[in-house]
Amino acid sequence: MIKTITETTDYLKNKGFENPEIGIILGTGLGQLINDIEILHEVSYNHIPNFPTATVEFHKGKLIYGVFEGKKVIVMQGRFHLYEGYTLQDVTYPVRIMEQLGIKTLLVSNAAGAINLNFKKGELMLIEDHINLQGSSPLAFKGVELLGERFADMSAPYNAEINSKFKNIAKANNITLHEGVYASVVGPQLETRAEYRMLKILGTDAVGMSTVPEIIVANHLKLKVAAISVLTDECDPNNLKPVNIAEIIEMAGKAEPIMVKLFKELIKTL
Ligand code: HPA
Repeated sequence: MIKTITETTDYLKNKGFENPEIGIILGTGLGQLINDIEILHEVSYNHIPNFPTATVEFHKGKLIYGVFEGKKVIVMQGRFHLYEGYTLQDVTYPVRIMEQLGIKTLLVSNAAGAINLNFKKGELMLIEDHINLQGSSPLAFKGVELLGERFADMSAPYNAEINSKFKNIAKANNITLHEGVYASVVGPQLETRAEYRMLKILGTDAVGMSTVPEIIVANHLKLKVAAISVLTDECDPNNLKPVNIAEIIEMAGKAEPIMVKLFKELIKTL
């Protein structure tokens, strides 16, 4: 993997992706952040050597380099999911590239279902810890020890200092920001009532189909990380209605300006 990482990194450096400080993965709910970035360079995923092969959906996936609130950032517009048929190594490959390019901090967003029924759809949750329910690890491959410690420490995967800044920013701006445990499932099917009950018993506050692999690799690479979920639906097993993807997307869109505000204010402090 080292050879392909070097090749990808060199390609991007030649495209002008020089010394970014912060990496941002724009999941559902953060797309608008792009409007506030002074874009210097951008490349479609399908032009980047060794990037996971683009699916049809992925034609619009782009890696963006620019200046955001005075900081050099590299932004993933669109991420790779396990449910699209990629491997966990594919899904996390861009994190390894961003680290090689120089980032020290990784910020992530996603859409998730609220298992904790005190949390309402349209609200945000700061991820304080996670549970990996995707059945494998992005670190489970031959040669991983050449890229970092095989037995990566996960005692504090989310950076306490950044989380505390997020909480202060939320408070100062009257934004409801819950804190909780995010569990990652493979998807793409939504959960059954029995699965939602199980997730609650396990200590989950929000469930989604992404983020955990990227956070594991970011910790493997000793990056500082923080992640926020937009809660798009309420997962009440005793009152479960058929999934409404349109509503999930609408909820994510509604929360987007608030999420962007949090990220903007945070980046000023980094
Ligand atoms: N389950 C899994 N992923 C999700 C959900 C959910 O209820 N809502 C948004 N992403």
